[in-house]
This record gives sequence, structure tokens and C-alpha cells, in this order.
Amino acid sequence: MDPDFLKLYEQIKNHTLVDIYRCHELWSLAKQVGDVEGDVLEVGVWRGGTGAILASAVRDFPDKQVFLADTFKGVVKAGQQDTRYTGGEHSDTSRDIVSDLMETVSLGNTTLLQGIFPDDTQHIVPSKIAMLHCDVDVYSSSKDIVDWCLPRLSVGAIMVFDDYGFFGCEGVTKLCNELRNTRGLRFMHNLNGHAVFVKFAN
Ligand SMILES: C[S@@+](CC[C@H](N)C(=O)[O-])C[C@H]1O[C@@H](n2cnc3c(N)ncnc32)[C@H](O)[C@@H]1O
Repeated sequence: MDPDFLKLYEQIKNHTLVDIYRCHELWSLAKQVGDVEGDVLEVGVWRGGTGAILASAVRDFPDKQVFLADTFKGVVKAGQQDTRYTGGEHSDTSRDIVSDLMETVSLGNTTLLQGIFPDDTQHIVPSKIAMLHCDVDVYSSSKDIVDWCLPRLSVGAIMVFDDYGFFGCEGVTKLCNELRNTRGLRFMHNLNGHAVFVKFAN
């Protein structure tokens, strides 16, 4: 693995629920969106670990901002499609925990969005998206985020969904499977628990 990534991972590993392989994949994909128009959006930040990885990976692209959206009150919009989550999980975090981490790793390219995305905070994010990391655990939340993002994705943009295929996250798996027929998107299932979509055409 990239030594820069490994150094960063040591700093953030206590701030993430995501394993090192998926963290590395996020790092490596984010490094490829430098020439894709738009910003980076993560919905589902928790204590900031994966957000810090994304922000660090794109720090050399001066026009890229990283928007980190979380309720900081846990999972929302759990419903019948979801087998494990009922709402409120992962509330053991705060906006301060995340902003402190961003300061520790010297990341000035991040904006924290507090509230449900897209409902409460969509107006703060500019109109073009180069990369989305969606890590919100349940179907309806993921669907609302994707419905917001799809018309804003630039050609070349990447969407990564955490928990694809994971026991207990059947809602996320269902949503990703529905997306697989979307025109202009290529799909890859990385068996580590990521669904990756690349927008190749309008
Ligand atoms: C599994 S955690 C995210 C893990 C994080 N990416 C990491 O590095 O460990 C899921 C997070 O999604 C947040 N969340 C769920 N639905 C959301 C929504 N629609 N808008 C904002 N935050 C949401 C929850 O508050 C929770 O912190």
C-alpha cells in the first residue's frame, strides 16, 4: 500500500468503522478524480476517518472541496428494507470530534455539514460532484442521496457505497442493485464490501 496512505491510516484508524482495505480503495479512487469536474461529498462521516482519507487524497487538487455530511445523531430513515438498523445507531460522535481530526491532520479543504443530507444541507454543496462516498447503512437514506447526486455527477465521477453485500445492510445492497441498470453508469462489486459506480456518459 501507498506509504502516504499508511501514515495517514495510523492517524485516523481510531476514527473509522471502515477496514484498511476499503479505506485504501477510497484513497486510491479519490486520487483519480483530480481532472473530474466538481467536488467530493461524503455522507456518513461518524468520527471522520474516511472523510479524512478522502480530503487527504485530494489535497493537491486546489479546486476540490470535500463536503462531509452527518446528522451527528446517528442513522436516519431506517425502514422495512433494512434488516438490522432501526435508527439512531452510530450517534457516538460529534461535530467537534470531526473538526478536531481535520485540524490534527491539517486538512483545510473540508466543510462539515450537520443535519440530514440532502434534506437539511444540500443547499451548501455546489452543483457538480466528482466523487460520492455514501456510508449511511440504510435504503431510504442512500436512495435520497443518490437521487440528489445522479443529476449532478460529472462524466468520470465515482460513487462508492459502503456495506454492499454485508449482512445487516440488505437495504444498501438492494439500492445498489437497483442502480446497476442506470444508463451511463458502470458497476463494480469489490468483494470487500464496496459497490463502485463510475459515470462514463450522460
Ligand atoms: C457507519 S457510520 C459512517 C462511518 C464512517 N464513514 C467511518 O469512517 O467510520 C454512518 C453514519 O451515517 C450518518 N447518517 C446516516 N444517514 C444520514 C443522512 N441521511 N445524512 C447525514 N448523515 C447520515 C450517521 O449519523 C452515522 O454517523
